[in-house]
Amino acid sequence: MRDKLRILAFAGSLRRGSFNRMLLQQMVALAPAEAEVEGFDLVSLPFYNGDLEGDLPEPVRIWKEKIRRADGILIATPEYNYSIPALTKNAIDWGTRPPTENVWKGKPVGIMGASNGRFGTVRCQQHLRNVLFAANTHVMNTPEVMISQAESAFDIEGNLVDDKAKQQLQKFWSSLVVWVRRFSG
Ligand code: FNR
Repeated sequence: MRDKLRILAFAGSLRRGSFNRMLLQQMVALAPAEAEVEGFDLVSLPFYNGDLEGDLPEPVRIWKEKIRRADGILIATPEYNYSIPALTKNAIDWGTRPPTENVWKGKPVGIMGASNGRFGTVRCQQHLRNVLFAANTHVMNTPEVMISQAESAFDIEGNLVDDKAKQQLQKFWSSLVVWVRRFSG
């Protein structure tokens, strides 16, 4: 096994001021020495179209290759209408196609989210777990990270203002590296 774990991270929001992008930035800042985090911007991915499966668009090829090479995946996603934003779902769907080339198979995954609401993406995360089950991944159960009322959880530079929230992220990392090592190599 490699010394450094390759963690592929993506946010389910394209917004410049996205709280979920901020959350990922915080995770990158707190990453343990044994993890190497590579971010991926989902803006490059087209909408899934079955007609393209025979000759995958270049951004989809790149995306699938990054998943394939990763030891583990980290997802920070908003909740839209009590569920998964299309952006996040689309990125997962591409990785499962064609079914004989599902690059998610067996990948350990950590999920988290930030929302403006009171429940911090809890409903989205439930749906996301189901979708990642269909993709044949191993989603870490605990700890859960749900940042609620995100507009007051981050400062203007995108740092979490609450030390407790930062500690939560550190705990998440500690569990995630153990979880990823369990399934990789
Ligand atoms: C939302 N938002 C939202 N929040 C929530 O807690 N539960 C929800 O069901 C929804 N639904 C929803 C639908 C749509 C279409 C949008 C655009 C927004 C609010 C959401 O949490 C807020 O916009 C976050 O700031 C989005 O995350 P980013 O872009 O900041 O990462």
